Amino acid sequence: MPDRPVVVVSNRGPLSFTVADGALRTKRAGGGLVTALGAAVEGTGTLWVAGALSEADRMAAAKGAVEAEGFNVDLLALDDDDHRAYYDVISNGTLWFLHHGLWDTPRRPRFDRVWRDAWAAYRRVNQAFAAHVAERAPEGAVVLVQDYHLALMGEPLAEARPDLAAVHFHHTPFASADAFRVLPDDAGEELLRGLAAFRACGFHNARWAAAFEACCAEVLGRTPATFVTPAAADAGDISGVAAGDQCAAAGAELDEAVGDCRLIVRVDRIELSKNIVRGFLAFEDLLRTYPEWRERVVFGAFVYPSREGLAEYQAYRQEVEGVIERINAEWATPTWTPILYDPKDDFPRSVAALQRFDVLLVNPVRDGLNLVAKEGMIVNQRDGVLALSRESGVWAELGEVALGIHPFDVAGTADVLHRALSMSADERRTHADAVRERVSARTPVDWFDDQVSAAG
Ligand code: G6P
Repeated sequence: MPDRPVVVVSNRGPLSFTVADGALRTKRAGGGLVTALGAAVEGTGTLWVAGALSEADRMAAAKGAVEAEGFNVDLLALDDDDHRAYYDVISNGTLWFLHHGLWDTPRRPRFDRVWRDAWAAYRRVNQAFAAHVAERAPEGAVVLVQDYHLALMGEPLAEARPDLAAVHFHHTPFASADAFRVLPDDAGEELLRGLAAFRACGFHNARWAAAFEACCAEVLGRTPATFVTPAAADAGDISGVAAGDQCAAAGAELDEAVGDCRLIVRVDRIELSKNIVRGFLAFEDLLRTYPEWRERVVFGAFVYPSREGLAEYQAYRQEVEGVIERINAEWATPTWTPILYDPKDDFPRSVAALQRFDVLLVNPVRDGLNLVAKEGMIVNQRDGVLALSRESGVWAELGEVALGIHPFDVAGTADVLHRALSMSADERRTHADAVRERVSARTPVDWFDDQVSAAG
């Protein structure tokens, strides 16, 4: 752990609040960012500044910093309309789509006046975060700002508190210079200038860092400092969940549902970048092309709703559910349902599924890292096979030993599933050992320390 004080800043904090019987209660928040950072920060007293995302969060924000569950959290209450514009329209509706290449460009995006007002709100929210941190950060602290929600904090923070050393870390990919040109010129330049105002910008994968550098070279005529450090899975935490009663109960239910079939698993938010529909189409292709797997394999899809404030996510969920229904209707037999779909956001249940997979399908069209690939291999008890997209950030660490997936190639993905299901016990052991060795090479603290070092 560093000897300088550290402040972490992110949109979503490690705790969310609820009100029960008039009292504030805390609950640990989920998601890749919080999981990766939480493991390094828990119990260290590090100040974590985050947005107040609900009414109960706003009540907590009014009390100042709250210490609970090993975290020291200080929430920032934001104007409702500004928060919606900053989170839904710009962060998730624009920057997420930009960096993951999710736009259907003949139709979207449309940068109209409403969007420009939202961009101004994004700027205001970033300024509010900067002011909040400037008031609270200890003298000379290192400030670790997380993700695309907070790209514009660097400049106002440096102005208010030149004694602080702030770095930025993207949990997403970064758009290529060509893709970046879709943003309006002024907003694109402001975004890159904002990021360049940090001491350095970090990424999970060298490809994303290079893309950021290329955008800056083209738009700003200079290349800011970057660093690359992939987040690590929290082996202790996930193994603890795996050893718990809830996980055992969920596992028993799953065993009954799957019977003696082989099990393909995916665990994801219902998220456009995760490529869920093509994953099911590949599974259907497997059943069609390799009929020996009919009634012998089940696809457990533990995918749960996310960001439902965005129309695109609601539509995608419908599409996902539609394709599951169709495939099950077409292929099920009286004793076998090919796809087991459970949209509950239930972590112990997801861990139970990860313990049992024969194949873990991680096929995003693009992904900053993908922690599930790492967590899954840590808890799996069957020497399961990792089928991994070349477009995930974690490919740089695991690509040499995983089975590679071209995420757009449905037939190719089916072939990979067949190959994974057909591997001998010896092959599986060698494969799983090699992946596990790489996954356990780094810890969340290593990742956290790399960010602190990047502050200089
Ligand atoms: C995932 C992404 C992160 C992102 C987070 C936000 O974990 O990998 O890049 O910051 O989602 O999720 P939220 O639910 O807060 O929108």
